[in-house]
Amino acid sequence: MRIFGISGSPRLQGTHFAVNYALNYLKEKGAEVRYFSVSRKKINFCLHCDYCIKKKEGCIHKDDMEEVYENLIWADGVIIGTPVYQGNITGQLKTLMDRCRAILAKDPKILRGKVGTAISIGGDRNGGQEIALRTIHDFYIINEMIPVGGGSFGANLGATFWSKDRGKKGVEEDEEGLRVLRKTLNRFYKVLREIKE
Ligand SMILES: Cc1cc2nc3c(=O)[nH]c(=O)nc-3n(C[C@H](O)[C@H](O)[C@H](O)COP(=O)(O)O)c2cc1C
Repeated sequence: MRIFGISGSPRLQGTHFAVNYALNYLKEKGAEVRYFSVSRKKINFCLHCDYCIKKKEGCIHKDDMEEVYENLIWADGVIIGTPVYQGNITGQLKTLMDRCRAILAKDPKILRGKVGTAISIGGDRNGGQEIALRTIHDFYIINEMIPVGGGSFGANLGATFWSKDRGKKGVEEDEEGLRVLRKTLNRFYKVLREIKE
């Protein structure tokens, strides 16, 4: 099982920790994992130049998205984590999602059937974590992937954390967040296994 984890935070703090916690958790179950953080990466905005549509050779920009494209194509499952910014995902993560239009333009089935799950981390207890999860799930749906949450009675739409604006320490100390993350990952892995079989 190949799993690609993405952190949408410009820092190597809470989201970086949570996505790597998830990857290590699944690695122990036997998964092969890869990681990408948007931190300090060059990811240009989509220009809507339609180069990708006309040429079908990927994006006109040659930047750090090359690594994301390669790993998304490689993966069976994708985990996207984001801090909550203004009640939703970060601008960096939204740009990464927009830029995926280029690989779909080349091959509309390129992400079809891959399984996706989501992690969101807010500084406030109810800061928009569920809205951010839904935005990530919408990305999966639009790109013909299979969105997976954590299931009812405990994890619902996926993993949410309350960092209290304390970065990595805030996430590490959020016991409930970590429990919900593990429940989400168990479900994610089960769906992945069932699809593979
Ligand atoms: C520009 C900006 C906007 C933010 N907006 C929200 C918000 O709407 N809701 C919230 O709960 N936290 C908000 N936060 C706090 C972060 O989501 C929080 O500190 C998070 O844990 C940071 O994750 P990181 O450590 O991975 O960078 C915001 C932080 C920044 C920098």
